[in-house]
Amino acid sequence: MILILDFGSQYTQLIARRVREANVYCEIHPFNLPIEKIRALKPRGIILSGGPASLYWENAPDLSPEVLRTGCPVLGICYGMSVIARHLGAQSAGSQAREYGPATLVIDQQDQLFEELKGREHQVWMSHGDRVEQIPLELITIAHSDNSPHAAVRSKDGMLRGIQFHPEVVHTPCGTAVLRNFVLRICGEPGDWTIENFIETKTAEIRARVRSEDRVLMALSGGVDSAVAAALIHRAVGDQLKCVFVDTALLRAGERQRMQELYAHQANIELAVVDAADVFLERLAGVTDPEQKRRIIGHTFIEVFEREATAVGGVRFLGQGTLYPDVIESVSFKGPSVTIKSHHNVGGLPERMRLELIEPLRELFKDEVRELGRELGLPGEILDREPFPGPGLAVRIVGEVTRARLDLVRAADAIVMEEVRSAGLQKSLWQAFAVLLPLKTVGVMGDGRSYESAIAIRAVNSSDGMTADWARLDAALLARISKRITNEIKGINRVVYDVTSKPPATIEWE
Ligand code: XMP
Repeated sequence: MILILDFGSQYTQLIARRVREANVYCEIHPFNLPIEKIRALKPRGIILSGGPASLYWENAPDLSPEVLRTGCPVLGICYGMSVIARHLGAQSAGSQAREYGPATLVIDQQDQLFEELKGREHQVWMSHGDRVEQIPLELITIAHSDNSPHAAVRSKDGMLRGIQFHPEVVHTPCGTAVLRNFVLRICGEPGDWTIENFIETKTAEIRARVRSEDRVLMALSGGVDSAVAAALIHRAVGDQLKCVFVDTALLRAGERQRMQELYAHQANIELAVVDAADVFLERLAGVTDPEQKRRIIGHTFIEVFEREATAVGGVRFLGQGTLYPDVIESVSFKGPSVTIKSHHNVGGLPERMRLELIEPLRELFKDEVRELGRELGLPGEILDREPFPGPGLAVRIVGEVTRARLDLVRAADAIVMEEVRSAGLQKSLWQAFAVLLPLKTVGVMGDGRSYESAIAIRAVNSSDGMTADWARLDAALLARISKRITNEIKGINRVVYDVTSKPPATIEWE
């Protein structure tokens, strides 16, 4: 495995993606991971990420010198390179040498890092404040750029390398080859970490943990992650896996039937559907505060699920579809982030019921999960679904959640989905949905006055949900959606389109 030590770069996850693309397993850990832990991981190579810090900062993040002497090759990227150079006694220069954007890298000396790159000059992406001015005797310059006299360096014993540019970003076309060269040629990784191998290893791991009398319980949400995790656990322990789908009354139109049919006919997994609609609606009655709504739904979900677990009996494990981005302990220089919305999961349950967790996707990124799902034979219908919030339609009704309001927003949502699908936009949009507003406005229908509810349409483009831009939907499509909603849904006489990005707004309205 390759260990990536994170100095807080916004690109650290991209380094991991590129290494995985070379079929090499890697993990990201904070730069100050204790040396004993590093040794225990038995890495074949270490990559030091870039970071926003400057070596001139008073408490500039640094490595324990032993990390550079574990016996495995080290590659420092940007700030990571400055750290290596400083350990060997180099001088770095401060901000006059800032360099952002494209640059031409000129290779001065052949190195395994550059093997199979054609020609001496390559376009690379620079993004640094400090640069290494004078290199210590132990280092040799192997490439330079206009602005960086030592854009790539190697130690004389060949164990340490540093590059000033970012090989992990798309603006460095040769970057994938550089990282591949490091992990495969220099570190000697075999490059055999594939999804097929992952399935075999995980299956064996789960089988070794779960005894024949144990049960694994898992909540399915209808989304990709829980579906893929369940398929993998099922492959390992078969019917010892019990899956539960909770009908919270906050689901999209037809969702319950869809899940039942999918699991009965395609996934071959037994699915218990629990009808908890009444209890969710009772608890939500009269509640308008978004965070309180989320809390109530979270707690009620755990309660319903816990009851189901007791009914199943013999449950020792809880399966969860946790992904790698959720578990990376990334270094943050911005301090702890504030809670914008409390996300909904079955947290708290494992401790209370003394359940052990099985999280077979903990090491994977989202696109790897989709690939795994395909490999396990899950249908595209499950794998290509758009994100849907845990608290469901409750966060798409501004204000109090009632059965009648749920019916309105559900019907509008179904129309939006249908129209977006028939316009062929389902895959390109991050999400498209309807929100019910807590207000009535005046309209005219036929010869009469109406005084009814309004629906807002939200459609966004995004790559990770962290930021988003409102989608410039075609006016004809919007017109069709508006006409159908006002014609087909009794109780709605106005449709508006949300033209705000995230930030400042969030994607969901609550
Ligand atoms: P926001 O509204 O925070 O949403 O901009 C970002 C993305 O996350 C989804 N979302 C959730 N997903 N549990 C989830 O699993 C939740 O509680 C939750 N709240 C929002 C939202 O749909 C969007 O894709």
